[in-house]
Amino acid sequence: MKKQPIGVFDSGLGGLTILKALRRQLPHEDLIYFGDTANVPYGSKSKAAVTKFSLAIARFLQSQGVKLIVVACNTASAQALSELHRQLDVPVMGVIEPGAQRAAAVTQNGRIAVLGTEGTVRSKAYPKAILKRFPKARIIQQACPLFVPLAEESWGKKPAAALIAQEYLKPVQKSRADTVILGCTHYPLLKPVIAKILGKGVTLVDSANTLADAAQLFLAGRAQLETQGKGRVQLYASDDPTRFKHLAEKLLGEKIGTVRLKKLDL
Ligand code: DGL
Repeated sequence: MKKQPIGVFDSGLGGLTILKALRRQLPHEDLIYFGDTANVPYGSKSKAAVTKFSLAIARFLQSQGVKLIVVACNTASAQALSELHRQLDVPVMGVIEPGAQRAAAVTQNGRIAVLGTEGTVRSKAYPKAILKRFPKARIIQQACPLFVPLAEESWGKKPAAALIAQEYLKPVQKSRADTVILGCTHYPLLKPVIAKILGKGVTLVDSANTLADAAQLFLAGRAQLETQGKGRVQLYASDDPTRFKHLAEKLLGEKIGTVRLKKLDL
């Protein structure tokens, strides 16, 4: 069981921010990453569609013999996690709980802002998870749909990104939140521009490290943690693997092997 890989998926590149944290924290584990480039973005799609894509990917990962599936996508975690738990035999972990836990722990003034896709915001998954831990928290949510294409195009440093971010972040600034959850795995790719606009007094929270800690604890608790050898990574994309490979290498800052094409059975 220890030797089995961990499966990780997202609608596209964003989940690679989680993959990076998993590799840092669990260097001996083999990882299989699936980017659903044929169906990105998930954020503006219905719950039914996101659930259908998530189940098809999870079934594929399960067929690869994974010991754990990490849903490295907030939208899919918010909308499809319970169905994944219900229909799969493999344990599944999402990114909402770790992010909510961290935000509730770091806020000083109890005001938390959640940036996410339209689907994540609509689900209210973050407010529910935060209020469970911190019932007095004051939470605002802001959907930032244009952040996903900006991140996918590596446009984080362009003036357009700053202009769009300024607009989206106005209500956040007004709310005086001292903690802002980057509630979409694409958003850490725009962290510098978001941090610059919000300024030093605001803590940006993303789920990557907290999730990697949780995955480590979970596997250790089941005596399934691989502690030897160098972990390998295999990437799959549901469309245009060549473009995905190029962008992924840029994002990860290292060469990756071949990205394989895998069309989903929907
Ligand atoms: N990266 C995904 C998330 O965390 C979704 C982005 C999208 O496909 O809209 O929500």
